[in-house]
Amino acid sequence: MSTFSPRVLSGMQPTGNLHLGNYLGAMLNWIRMQETHETLYCVVDLHAITQAVSVWGGPEVLRKAILDVTAAYIACGLDPRKSIIFNQSQVAEHAELAWVFNCVARLGWLDRMTQFKEKAGKDKERASVGLYDYPVLMAADILIYKATHVPVGEDQKQHLELTRDIAQKFNLDFAESIAAQGHGEAFFPITDPVIQGPATRVMSLRDGTKKMSKSDPSDLSRINLTDSADDIAKKIRKAKTDADGLPPEAAGLKGRPEAENLVGIYAALSGTSVDAVLAQFGGGQFSAFKNALADLAVLKLAPIAGEMNRLLADPGYVQGVLKDGSERARAIAQPVMRDVRKIMGFVVS
Ligand code: TRP
Repeated sequence: MSTFSPRVLSGMQPTGNLHLGNYLGAMLNWIRMQETHETLYCVVDLHAITQAVSVWGGPEVLRKAILDVTAAYIACGLDPRKSIIFNQSQVAEHAELAWVFNCVARLGWLDRMTQFKEKAGKDKERASVGLYDYPVLMAADILIYKATHVPVGEDQKQHLELTRDIAQKFNLDFAESIAAQGHGEAFFPITDPVIQGPATRVMSLRDGTKKMSKSDPSDLSRINLTDSADDIAKKIRKAKTDADGLPPEAAGLKGRPEAENLVGIYAALSGTSVDAVLAQFGGGQFSAFKNALADLAVLKLAPIAGEMNRLLADPGYVQGVLKDGSERARAIAQPVMRDVRKIMGFVVS
């Protein structure tokens, strides 16, 4: 068995605002892992252009969104001294490796991807080729750094499985060449998803059966990381609930998706368990719990918006973080891509 040193990579798209679901579902893990691992966090701007221009908004919107998301990363607690923070399009090796992987991945594998089916909708003939190919680029994002761990939300599990399949097939198809070039038995690691933590699925505040999403037309359905304290409190108070009070223990949340979601959010934001939250609030009125949740959410989230605004007042700083991060990312990616070319038989001068 070849061994790979632990390395973490993850990314988010610069489209729309980041929201509570991104924060609790992935970002808290990212922040935690930068203390213990080598970490790379990417703004996946090449992925952002996979839908119609009218969806992603065009050049001005994209430029701003890349800086906004970078500022959000830092405001949430990612530290450019501990993590490599960069944007995908400044490291050309992502796209180059994606081409090689296009020739490794099979159509049948991509045909199974549920996110493509959801995003393409009924009219899949009009979807871009890039939207279909999205998971192959994601595999390249991960494997160009030989990342061993990828902290993501639960919806990305299938894409991680595809990444593992691509790594495995590459390792097998080119096994002889990989060994001959001195890389042992495997060139790419079989990456582990990291899907854990207090709230891997944060649901809409208007419908507890739907995921919290930046594309939901109702802004009341989500808490954006840019929301003011007043907006955060208002959205929690207006969150949908059912007619009952809070149950004394977790089993009582079954079949009550809105209650389960709000209790889960409280637990995640306070760093406690669902049982601990119910031990405190169970048996009581929803309104009292909502007030406490509103206070907690404002306490934890409002400072992020403030910090984002402070950072964005100096776009030179944010751009500098991306420049420095991209240089450090390239220093890892370039030798890996060179090895891939040699393994494949391309002539490398
Ligand atoms: N597909 C991911 C999402 O929508 C974003 C992403 C792109 C990503 N490349 C990645 C996540 C590589 C982790 C690793 O959330």
